[in-house]
Amino acid sequence: MNTLLRIDSSLRTEQSYSRTLGDYFIQQWKIKNPDGIIKERDVTRQLIPHITQQTVNAFFSENPDTESIHLSDELINELYQCDEILITCPMYNYGIPSSLKAYFDSVIRTKKTFTGNISLKGLLENKKAYIISSMGGMSPGTHNPLENHLTLLFNHMGITDICYFPLNGTVVDEISNAEKIALQQSEILKHLN
Ligand SMILES: Cc1cc2nc3c(=O)[nH]c(=O)nc-3n(C[C@H](O)[C@H](O)[C@H](O)COP(=O)(O)O)c2cc1C
Repeated sequence: MNTLLRIDSSLRTEQSYSRTLGDYFIQQWKIKNPDGIIKERDVTRQLIPHITQQTVNAFFSENPDTESIHLSDELINELYQCDEILITCPMYNYGIPSSLKAYFDSVIRTKKTFTGNISLKGLLENKKAYIISSMGGMSPGTHNPLENHLTLLFNHMGITDICYFPLNGTVVDEISNAEKIALQQSEILKHLN
């Protein structure tokens, strides 16, 4: 039985393109995995605090102050328990939302999700990730910085099997947004088959 962890990060709870395509993904995933379990985390509703020096000290300590890493432990357990991860991610000021960055800062943790210093080894093995990104108007042909950044973060933890579903130009080209969504819906169907 597969478990999917869905992580949403758009501030918009309505009319969000990334969440809308995420809903479609979930609908299709449920068809493919009728007994599957879906867990949801919305980093805009349950804000994850920025890490502090105290948190980092606890990350590296043999006897950590458990209060400062309690949430990190919970988030990491959640990641270990899932087989697949869906991230829905809008572009804010050329990057991923700070709420989502705070999430990764809490789960990328030595001896928990990776080991090593120079030669790194991710510890989350045999997991698959799906990235839905939405951008208002990124110049065509430029690399998608959301996909680049999220790929590095996932790879650091050992997740290298990643599928991408980008929606670009959501602000500049409202009329054809339905077409963009339809195109990525067909990509989702291909990848889930
Ligand atoms: C605070 C903020 C900053 C944004 N910065 C960018 C940006 O740097 N580049 C861009 O192409 N779009 C930018 N946008 C537009 C969003 O990426 C776009 O509206 C996207 O569709 C949002 O995702 P959503 O539809 O899932 O909410 C920004 C939007 C907001 C609210």
